[in-house]
Amino acid sequence: MSSIQAVDLAHAGRLINHGPTVLVSSAHGARRNLMAAAWSMPVEFTPPRVAVVIDKSTYTRELVLASGAFALNLPCRAVVDLAYTVGSETGKPAHEGDSDKFSRHGLVPLRGPALGLPLVPGCVAWMECRLIEEPHAQQAYDTFFGEVVSAQADERVFVRGRWSFRDDNAEWHTLHHLGGGLFALPSRTVQAERLKPVRT
Ligand SMILES: Cc1cc2nc3c(=O)[nH]c(=O)nc-3n(C[C@H](O)[C@H](O)[C@H](O)COP(=O)(O)O)c2cc1C
Repeated sequence: MSSIQAVDLAHAGRLINHGPTVLVSSAHGARRNLMAAAWSMPVEFTPPRVAVVIDKSTYTRELVLASGAFALNLPCRAVVDLAYTVGSETGKPAHEGDSDKFSRHGLVPLRGPALGLPLVPGCVAWMECRLIEEPHAQQAYDTFFGEVVSAQADERVFVRGRWSFRDDNAEWHTLHHLGGGLFALPSRTVQAERLKPVRT
């Protein structure tokens, strides 16, 4: 039985609130691609919106601009090498017939439920986003905004609307890039309590 569950769009921002590295997947016609991005964040609850930095040098940018959509896939410890690799090579075909990054790495994409975008198997959460055209932000800051139109997560690690990082699900912990292919894992969590006002 699949452990992939739909996530309420009201909770979609929580999927990337803690700053994980994401894989940006995209498709236009028969072309498809994915790349790593450490720079993404939620920017609005309702409707859920996100921002991600997609450099001008990337093939991903070409496909996102052509299609008006992208997906954020959250890789985990189990696919750390894939996350690093797709962030270290371009999917832009150098020659006709070159295989894309999905085929190159033996990935059979899942189909996004809202937009049909190629989603990366082995990840622990997925969001499909419709591009919100902001030409100035795109050109000046390489920042792309999207409205989240579908959200899904693996219930082994995202439980009742929030992440549940535990010792017994360490393989599915998200990745936080420190540089040069070194990633931190969110292996410890702490529950905060509201401070009571000090009596004077
Ligand atoms: C861990 C990691 C994080 C990255 N973060 C970003 C990012 O936030 N924005 C970006 O434009 N490129 C980022 N990159 C670089 C792209 O993933 C890289 O340029 C990729 O090869 C582009 O692929 P493409 O040309 O197939 O689109 C990152 C790379 C790695 C390894």
